[in-house]
Amino acid sequence: MIVNKITLINFRNYDKLDITFGKNTNIIVGNNAQGKTNILESIYILALTKSYKQGLEENFIQFNKQFTKIKGVIKDKNIIKNLEILISENNKKIKINKTDIRKLSDYISNLNIIIFTPNDLEIIKGSPSIRRNLLNIQISQISKIYLQAYNEYNKILKIRNEYLKILYINNLADFAYLNILTEKLIDKAVIIYKERKKYIDQINMSISSIYENITGIKDIKLIYENNVGIEIFEDNEIKKILLQKFQQNRQKELTQGITLYGPHRDDFSFFVDDKDLKLFGSQGQQKIAVLSYKLSEIDVFEKKLQTKPVLLLDDIFSEIDIKKRNKILAYINKDIQSIITTTDLKNINKRMIENAVIFEIKNNQIERK
Ligand SMILES: Nc1ncnc2c1ncn2[C@@H]1O[C@H](COP(=O)(O)OP(=O)(O)O)[C@@H](O)[C@H]1O
Ligand SMILES: [Mg+2]
Repeated sequence: MIVNKITLINFRNYDKLDITFGKNTNIIVGNNAQGKTNILESIYILALTKSYKQGLEENFIQFNKQFTKIKGVIKDKNIIKNLEILISENNKKIKINKTDIRKLSDYISNLNIIIFTPNDLEIIKGSPSIRRNLLNIQISQISKIYLQAYNEYNKILKIRNEYLKILYINNLADFAYLNILTEKLIDKAVIIYKERKKYIDQINMSISSIYENITGIKDIKLIYENNVGIEIFEDNEIKKILLQKFQQNRQKELTQGITLYGPHRDDFSFFVDDKDLKLFGSQGQQKIAVLSYKLSEIDVFEKKLQTKPVLLLDDIFSEIDIKKRNKILAYINKDIQSIITTTDLKNINKRMIENAVIFEIKNNQIERK
């Protein structure tokens, strides 16, 4: 799949910007604070309706303006679609081919993307919620079942947590409704666990060869960690274990007023040679590991959707030596659309540049070279 064209109106530093991308490598060159990342962010928002950056959505809107609009023309398997997102202070409107879309699950997955940003080291070093968030975003793009189950799970989780508090505060022993909520929660949890496990298994089928190709080091893998001790990811097995956990820990949940077990407490880690990269990896190693993970997602997406996602690579080259850099570029320089930002074309080798469309960005304007 490719992004043919985007139009930004009042988006961050851009009043109005039109860019027509090439179908393979695109390189955006410019000094700091010129708006390179903003372009990638706009494509991310076009794909997922929200940003990967912290902060209010109002920040997307250019200072002193009332709204922002992001439009994109995308092409997948010869079908062209017009996507549009309009964001004003407390409203968001989403359209496909000029038709309003109400349900998020009808929108997500029209444009599939993989992004790598300088903050992505947090995927290894940061808190578990960062990794869970990533799982949600990535799996939602390839599995509608997951997206729906996850949304419903969160709704039930909230109600269950509130009900646990009510029971405790009022010193009630009426567990019939709690049991219903627990059952409902488990039903959705089963789907989430299975889809996450499947996704991580699929990543593991690709990541090792990519990481080895870049670093020469074998045996990297992702380890999926759940807080209930599921090892066999089958419906009945998962249900049995969860039910047991909830039965055994009812009092604990009541006193804490919170659901203690389930996929909302999941995590995963990167291991190389059976060592946890979080604990021993250097910055550089961690960076290549995350990049390899992102690149293995190309295979996962393609297997599931029969199309390649669009790769967004933001300033990925610092702290990576030239040999590894070229290996990464060679991997990207294939039949996939990528949009890469850099402050300096020297970071990118000649062969790549020859095949790329180059954009230079300066004073809020972009020029195709
Ligand atoms: N809502 C906004 N309105 C106007 N300018 C903004 C807004 N949000 C961010 N910017 C500007 O965008 C610029 C940063 O853009 P960015 O894409 O991060 O640059 P680069 O990646 O090229 O270093 C800054 O100059 C910042 O002031
Ligand atoms: Mg930037």
